[in-house]
Amino acid sequence: MAQLWGGRFTKQTDDLVYHFNASISFDRRFLEEDIEGSIAHVVMLAKQGILTNEEKDQIVKGLGDIRKEVRDGQLAVTDEYEDVHSFVEAKLIERIGDAGKKMHTGRSRNDQVALDLRLYVRKEILNVDGLLKELLNVLLRIQKEHLTTYMPGFTHLQKAQPVTLAHHMGAYFEMFKRDRGRMHDIFMRMNYCPLGAGALAGTTYPLDRSYTASMLGFEGPTLNSMDSVSDRDYVIEFLSAAATIMMHLSRFSEEIIIWNSNEYRFIELDDAYSTGSSIMPQKKNPDIAELVRGKTGRVYGALVSILTTMKGLPLAYNKDMQEDKELTFDAIDTVKDCLTLFTGMLSTAGFRKEVMAKSAMGGFTNATDAADYLVGKGVPFRDAHGIIGKLVLTCIEKQCSIEELTLPELKELSPVFEEDIYDAVSLKTCVEKRLTLGAPGIEVMKQVIADNEAYLAKDGCET
Ligand code: ARG
Repeated sequence: MAQLWGGRFTKQTDDLVYHFNASISFDRRFLEEDIEGSIAHVVMLAKQGILTNEEKDQIVKGLGDIRKEVRDGQLAVTDEYEDVHSFVEAKLIERIGDAGKKMHTGRSRNDQVALDLRLYVRKEILNVDGLLKELLNVLLRIQKEHLTTYMPGFTHLQKAQPVTLAHHMGAYFEMFKRDRGRMHDIFMRMNYCPLGAGALAGTTYPLDRSYTASMLGFEGPTLNSMDSVSDRDYVIEFLSAAATIMMHLSRFSEEIIIWNSNEYRFIELDDAYSTGSSIMPQKKNPDIAELVRGKTGRVYGALVSILTTMKGLPLAYNKDMQEDKELTFDAIDTVKDCLTLFTGMLSTAGFRKEVMAKSAMGGFTNATDAADYLVGKGVPFRDAHGIIGKLVLTCIEKQCSIEELTLPELKELSPVFEEDIYDAVSLKTCVEKRLTLGAPGIEVMKQVIADNEAYLAKDGCET
C-alpha cells in the first residue's frame, strides 16, 4: 500500500477498504495526461518563482523518464499505489528525491483528476470525430455510386414509395453529420482548464492559471474553483452524444440485418465481416451488425449511470465522482470499436441492384405516382386517391402490378388513363420526378452530394 496521506492516521487502512477506495486499476489509463498536466503545472510554478528552475528541470526530466519507461514497458503501473497520481509522484520522488516532493505545491488531486479526465475526453472527442468522418466518406462514396440504384422506401416497414440507395444512405449521412456537430459543440464548451482550482477553493500561491491553460491547449481557465473540481457536465454531454451515435449505428445495423436476410437479399456482406455457424454449414451471419446493435445498451447505461452518480452530489468534490471513469472509458472504447467495424463492414458490402429494383417495383410503390398522374389530367387528388385505391384492389385480385394492367382494364376504372400512364408509373420516372430539395431525384441528389463533399473537405471538430 502506498498512499500520499498517511500523516494524520495512526492505523493502516483496512485491506478491503484500501482496494475499494483505490482507482489505479482503471485510472492508469490516463498516465500520459497526468504527466502532461504535471509538467505544465511545474513549468508554471517555476515561472512564478514558486519553484527554482533547477527543481523544475529535475521534475520535468523525471516525469519524462517515467513516461518513456512506461511507454517502453520497462516500468509497470502496479496496484500497490492508490491511484495514478500517487504512482507518478512516488516514482518521481524515488528518482529525484526532495525536488519531487515539491511537484504537488499549489495543487490537489481534485483539480488534478478533473484536468486528467478532461484532457482524456478532449482527445477522444477528436478521435470519435475522425472516425465519424471516415464513415461519412464511405457513405458519400456509396451515394455517388448508387444514384440510380432503385429500392423501396418504407414506412411502417411496408413498401411506400421508391427511392434510391443513394438517398437512403444520404439519410444516415445527415445523422452522422449531426453527430460530428455535437462533438464540435462539446469540444467548444469543455475546452477550459480546471488546473489551479486546488481542492475546491483555489490556493494562496500566486499561480498563473491562464499560463497552464494555454500550455495545455485550452481556451482559458475555468472561472469558479468549486465548479472546476466537481463539474462532469462534459462527460455527460459526451456520453449523451455517444449514445446518440450508437442509436444511429444501431438503426443502421438493424437495416443491414434485414437487408441481409434470405427474404430481402439486398446486401452481400463481405466474408471478412461475417461469421458462420458451428452447426449449420449454410449460415453467413451478420454478427458485426448485431453486436453493434447489442452494444448500444452499454453506452446508454454509461449515460444513465453518470447522470445518477452526479444527481445528489453537494459541492464540491465527492469520492462518488471516481465512478465517472470506468463507464466513460468503456463507452469510449465501445463507440470507437463500433464506428471502426461498422465502417469496414459497410465499405466492403456489395448491393444487389436487381433484387432491390425488383423489390421496389412490387408492393405498389408507384401508387402515389399513379394518383398524381390522374391529378395531372385534372382529377381532384381525393378522387384520384379513391380510383387508385380501387385499382390496387383489382391488382391484388389479379395478382399483378399497376403497370401490368392493360389500358382497357385501366380505363374501366377511369376513362382519363392514356398510354402515357405506363411511363408515368415506371420506377425511373417515379424517382427522377422527385426533385424537391432533399428528395431522391438524381439532379437534386447530386446537388446535395456536392454540398456534403464541400462540408467533408473542411477540418475537424476543434476548429
Ligand atoms: N481517484 C480519485 C478520483 O478519481 C482522485 C481524486 C482523489 N481526491 C480525493 N479528495 N480523495 O476522483
